[in-house]
Amino acid sequence: MTTEAAVEHNPHGYRRFSLGEFTFERDEFFAHISWPTGSHVMSIDAFLRALQRDVAWNFFYGIVNFDGVFGTVNHYGTVDIFAGRYNEAFRKAELDHMENVETDDIRGVFENILDDWTNEGFDPFASPSETGTAFGEKNGSNSDAVRRVRVEAKRMVGLPGDEPIRDDANGHPVNRQFADVEQDDPIVHAEAGYEDRVGGFNLAKYLSRSPVTWNPSIVSICRDSLMCPTTEEYILPIIHGNDRAEWFVVLSDEIIWEVEDRDSGAKRATVTMKAGDVAAMPADIRHQGYASKRSMLLVWENASAALPEMIASGRIPVQPVEF
Ligand code: PHB
Ligand code: FE
Repeated sequence: MTTEAAVEHNPHGYRRFSLGEFTFERDEFFAHISWPTGSHVMSIDAFLRALQRDVAWNFFYGIVNFDGVFGTVNHYGTVDIFAGRYNEAFRKAELDHMENVETDDIRGVFENILDDWTNEGFDPFASPSETGTAFGEKNGSNSDAVRRVRVEAKRMVGLPGDEPIRDDANGHPVNRQFADVEQDDPIVHAEAGYEDRVGGFNLAKYLSRSPVTWNPSIVSICRDSLMCPTTEEYILPIIHGNDRAEWFVVLSDEIIWEVEDRDSGAKRATVTMKAGDVAAMPADIRHQGYASKRSMLLVWENASAALPEMIASGRIPVQPVEF
């Protein structure tokens, strides 16, 4: 497999990359992806927003569709990179293409594309109204933004030695859309000897100070149970194909979810969730969220490595609850 990039730059100043039989090129407006049986074009802002999530989330759970054609499947050690594999029309025409690569190899290439193709002032994690443009000829870089690591609490935000509480002093001002969120902190009285085991923090305050969108943070973890809240504005830049069920709790405002069959892309449902609504997304779908006004969402993940096989083999159902 070839993973090296040509060092020369195209007329727009961007490097060309290859991974196996896939090649990647960008111009002022678009990402161009080619493979032996076809090619695909995506708007560069949408491509970089999706790529940023795939890299920062280490290929996430299951399938990360950049759109209805291109994406990755995480096998937790290796990754499938595909074009048209989860698109009924591509499959019928036998134009789909998929390659399995080592996670370290694809991560290296994807990090390099993200770094080279992101211009100064464009932050792929930011809401479109809080970032500069992705378009144009090569113009500097934004390495600090694209190398941002995601919050992963070891136990819980705020506990000794763990992820810090966000405040003005550590560079986390309240977002313009959450100016009305109360900023008080809980008072915790721990029994002597339990000071490093008992804690509490104001989750609404924490989320009101998130500088990014569509980027779940692990704020608490208990064995395989991960609390992953996030703030959402505009469109989830990936269409996520599940390999397990996920629970969503909308904590504020409203999110609309477009839900499709995971493998064909056929429409399954539109789910409009308002503050307080809870949904379980089954393990055989893919979904993309839309939020007109910045919204707080709690994503509850079960990170057990055993789940994909249990679901794929039919030993446990695709939906976590029967009503
Ligand atoms: C999801 O795919 O379930 C997901 C990803 C990112 C978010 C919210 C939900 O911000
Ligand atoms: Fe998901």
